Amino acid sequence: MHGSLPPDTAADPTPAELIAGRPFLSRSAIDGLVLEGVPLAAIAAALGTPTYVYSASTIRARYAALASALDGAGLAAHIHYAVKANDHLAVLHLLGRLGAGADVVSQGEFFRALAAGIAPERIVFSGVGKTEEELAQALTAGIGQINVESAEELRALARVAQRLGRTAPVALRVNPDIDARTHAKITTGLAQNKFGIPAAEIPALYAEAAALPGIAPVGLALHIGSQVLSLAPFRESFAVLARLVRELRAAGLAVPRVDCGGGLGVPYRNEPAPTPDALAGALAGAFRSLDLDLLLEPGRWLLAPAGLLLATVVRVKPGPERPFVVLDAGMNDLIRPALYDAWHGIVPLAAASAASEPQPIDIVGPVCESADVFGLARALPPLAPGARVAILDAGAYGSVMSSPYNARPRAAEAMVEGERWALIRPRQALADLWADEQVPDWL
Ligand code: LLP
Repeated sequence: MHGSLPPDTAADPTPAELIAGRPFLSRSAIDGLVLEGVPLAAIAAALGTPTYVYSASTIRARYAALASALDGAGLAAHIHYAVKANDHLAVLHLLGRLGAGADVVSQGEFFRALAAGIAPERIVFSGVGKTEEELAQALTAGIGQINVESAEELRALARVAQRLGRTAPVALRVNPDIDARTHAKITTGLAQNKFGIPAAEIPALYAEAAALPGIAPVGLALHIGSQVLSLAPFRESFAVLARLVRELRAAGLAVPRVDCGGGLGVPYRNEPAPTPDALAGALAGAFRSLDLDLLLEPGRWLLAPAGLLLATVVRVKPGPERPFVVLDAGMNDLIRPALYDAWHGIVPLAAASAASEPQPIDIVGPVCESADVFGLARALPPLAPGARVAILDAGAYGSVMSSPYNARPRAAEAMVEGERWALIRPRQALADLWADEQVPDWL
């Protein structure tokens, strides 16, 4: 199961290297690990663990870096934050205030984005299984764009729009059959994936859309996968979109927009990763001459490095090869290592541990599954029960994917900015785990 986690730790960045690669994280001799201006031990002491902590300044800085890369490349681009990465209202509020629109995939995400003050015309609706109820709600609220993933969905949407007397702004999502070279479970642009419409079927369907009552085709959309660390698949898929735009325009159809999805990867392991400037260069190379409005749907790139998960060592027990260090955070809190063999940096909070000699350990959670592993053979200073650690880059696909498995309450969440911090979600109370369950009276 963890075959892709090499037992040899030589290639792993050290805690000091991980901290050095993350601008808002530092280690002070007195306070230990510090996020922006706040010692993380203070948050752990106040709220207990497991607790997610987000850095507002990191989100601001990353949004600004992406926006300026797009501006710098001379692109009329709009950032539609992929809400699924982290749908907390505080995150949506912050990004909305910075000017971001939203990319949503359910009525829950749609109403969350609206609740955070993001205007409906700045929201894009993606996903292969939008229900007619969801489509009707989005149209009634005045959604900006619906990314349609099949001919069947297009026809259903036309019926819903006509019934409501509305016109649906539609982008057709292209499946370019391109390998994003990422984990198989987060690849979306191959023909065998359920997403999008084969490129060869786009011209006929776009023409059908233009003729359908209730539908206004506004362009094409694409999303090839997530945690993409090489530019080549982006370039190849943008070329497919650009070719289709030219072909549709040559047939006399208006194509004012392309939506290039999300997917930009982050260096969890300090590995080389494409920069926003490189992505903007690839976008400019494909689209600059086409006079298009460009949309992007980044999730992970904006949020992952802005969050971490604080945990406390519960127990250290011997193992056949290395000690097991058992945390109070588990796969129910952060499922990425168990589900995708994902590597997350793990850094002790205490100032003192930085000086002690590192030992290889297996860091695991308390959940009753052998997949509940955060890191194998990690070289870390000795960690005794009560020691605290931060699991890094957990701001995206962390809290949103958590579950109450093993009747474990949902973790607390806090946000830091500069010297101040605030609780943004209290730890779920134990009794709330079963508060809405009902026992039939015939039992
Ligand atoms: N747009 C669409 C249509 C998507 O399906 C996704 C992600 C995004 C945008 C945002 O992609 P990003 O920029 O975050 O890569 N739970 C997995 C990731 C699943 C991504 C699903 N779709 C993980 O933890 O790695």
